[in-house]
Amino acid sequence: MGNIHLTGGTSLEGSVGIQGSKNAVLPMMAAALLHKGVTTLTNCPLIRDVFCMVDILRSLGGMVTWEEHTMHIDCSHLRRGKIPEEYAVRMRSSITCMGSLLARIGMCEMPYPGGCMIGQRPIDVHLDLFRHMGTQIVEREGVLYSVCGRCHGFTYKFPRRSVGATENGVLAAVLCDGVTRLENCATEPEVGWMCRCINSMGGKIEGIGSKILQITGVPGLHDTTFAVPPDRIVAGTYLCAGAISRGKVVLEPVIMEEMQAILAVYKKMGGQYEGKGGKLFTNSAHVHLAVPFLETAVYPGLPTDLQSPLLSVLSVASGVSILRETVFENRFLAAEQLQKMGACIRIYDREAKVTGKETLTGCEVVAQELRGGAALVLAGLVASGETVIRNAEYIERGYEDICRDLGNLGARIHKE
Ligand code: UD1
Repeated sequence: MGNIHLTGGTSLEGSVGIQGSKNAVLPMMAAALLHKGVTTLTNCPLIRDVFCMVDILRSLGGMVTWEEHTMHIDCSHLRRGKIPEEYAVRMRSSITCMGSLLARIGMCEMPYPGGCMIGQRPIDVHLDLFRHMGTQIVEREGVLYSVCGRCHGFTYKFPRRSVGATENGVLAAVLCDGVTRLENCATEPEVGWMCRCINSMGGKIEGIGSKILQITGVPGLHDTTFAVPPDRIVAGTYLCAGAISRGKVVLEPVIMEEMQAILAVYKKMGGQYEGKGGKLFTNSAHVHLAVPFLETAVYPGLPTDLQSPLLSVLSVASGVSILRETVFENRFLAAEQLQKMGACIRIYDREAKVTGKETLTGCEVVAQELRGGAALVLAGLVASGETVIRNAEYIERGYEDICRDLGNLGARIHKE
């Protein structure tokens, strides 16, 4: 496992390019399984989770080729519907392949999916959805064997809003006979981007962005080229990097509408910003305020993926902040590591009470998951002396090159 070394104390300044969205490209790659032909995705982020999904597509018989950030996925001939254990346990979003495989070849065999250690992350909603549409699923020794016949349009109301389960519902319905109506869908922008990508392949999905999606089945799809949108979570992380270092950072490209919740928090902390022409100009010279109460929520609320980066920023704000996590039950893993750096964070069940300190102290810390790992990098930007972040691989699951990006903004950072 690699380490990131970081010497704190510089204010970040300059422009940073925002990579394509991880959470958008992964379900688009799963959607490529639906099509007996070529799907081309441009602006793909070169990150570990995407490489893992490439391995999954290849193991299923898909052919994947790269030209820089462009990925060509040819799923003309799928060999089988079995997702190897080594990939499924590495990444939770392997579960989105299940909807596509059931739709395309009527079967799927996969172990229970893995992913970041941020909570129980059950898949009961996914399985309930599949059973509702007539799939037979049996579980033996941790492996799920699923079979379904030709699927007819169905109506399903999600018992709780889940990004992955909504994506699976859409993927399973695209090639059905007739019309499918999905209610209480997740409205995270990445669900919408996946739907737009499928529509550009010839799918018929209506209601994009709302809680009700209507999918009119089509017999087949056609080749497409689709651009992956910028990653709002990476943009939010780099906004926090500017904030914690009291810097002046320009982020581009960003979709302003998708950034509203984190920008509202940034403003409360004293940040100033302007969005113009797809760029976000930020000035964190006056960021210093604690935020009395914040909570993560489903979109358009504050993304849970930015909770850990915010913990870092609030650790050096003046005053007390309460940050409540409502989406995942075990997402405060970064807190203990931040405490090692001198942060004053107390966890009470789902709430973190953060008492801001003047500064943090560099030391050796361990990344345990993706966003928590990024939060440690942010803390290192302001810590006195050197911070060493072990297990940097977790960060590479979602950030193409955090050392390059922050280094270009003036951070003294490198990977061992
Ligand atoms: C996706 C994102 C992740 C983000 C999360 C919430 C991807 C690849 N990942 O994850 O970055 O943090 O949305 O915005 O897009 N749940 C159940 N049963 C289920 C499914 C989910 O109880 O069958 C629970 C989860 O444990 C969690 C909540 O529902 O507490 C939300 O999970 P979900 O929206 O499904 O997240 P993911 O799709 O896994």
